[in-house]
Amino acid sequence: MSMADIIYEIFGPLPQGAPGNEASTLRALDAVPDRDLVCNVLDLGVGRGRTTFTLARALRDARVTAVEIHAPFVKQMAGYASEAGVANRVHIVCGDMGNIEVAEGSVDLIWAEGSIYLVGIERALAIWRPWLRPGGCIAFSDFVWWTDDPSEEASEFWATEYPDMATEVAIRAMGEAAGYRVVSSFHMSKEAHDDYYIPLEERVAELAGCVDADVQQVLENIQREIEVVRRFADDAGYTFFVLQRAES
Ligand SMILES: C[S@@+](CC[C@H](N)C(=O)[O-])C[C@H]1O[C@@H](n2cnc3c(N)ncnc32)[C@H](O)[C@@H]1O
Repeated sequence: MSMADIIYEIFGPLPQGAPGNEASTLRALDAVPDRDLVCNVLDLGVGRGRTTFTLARALRDARVTAVEIHAPFVKQMAGYASEAGVANRVHIVCGDMGNIEVAEGSVDLIWAEGSIYLVGIERALAIWRPWLRPGGCIAFSDFVWWTDDPSEEASEFWATEYPDMATEVAIRAMGEAAGYRVVSSFHMSKEAHDDYYIPLEERVAELAGCVDADVQQVLENIQREIEVVRRFADDAGYTFFVLQRAES
């Protein structure tokens, strides 16, 4: 099994692929200036579309284009969109968010919950900015250092698992340097973390008997992540950012 196959085997049945919940998505959406004027939304790396459907429900006049690379998720989403009666406003694309054609200035709002790290924050902010109309926004979440003085154990773990993890201050500065105004940033709640980690921990337990050594290694890493996140909950956690395209 390739690493991608292992990841989709573990994460495939889970309701979401990153910390987050409806409350945090809506809190970030509320921070978007003139949100009622948003017509065109681009939701990137959507998994099975948790955020896509929340955004489509909240922005009743908007068209949401969701991009996801894993074809089985795209197929499931198409079914949900029809059931939810939003198929006319939710356009689902199976593709690579790092390599899509988007007309300059055509997007009001880019959403990337738990997925911006796949492109890299600095690179994503540079690539996505021309897609936004003047005053358009990017909302994204990522794992972020919450302290300048983390415990040694958490530092060691994240140095291997996510060496590029930045502080909130550094990401806000990155946004400003890339031509954005920081509208909001906030730490996501314990509930938003639990909504991801509790089902994930149950999935790890379910697969415990799996004989594939590579799968076992990945399961051990995930279990370790869950422990580190819980034990050092003040050191680092998921954080939301809302940035508005600034004009120079
Ligand atoms: C960490 S999950 C987050 C999913 C979702 N945003 C959420 O919060 O539940 C990342 C998702 O991005 C997808 N993905 C990975 N690389 C991608 C790419 N290059 N283009 C589009 N989607 C990608 C994965 O298949 C996965 O569903």
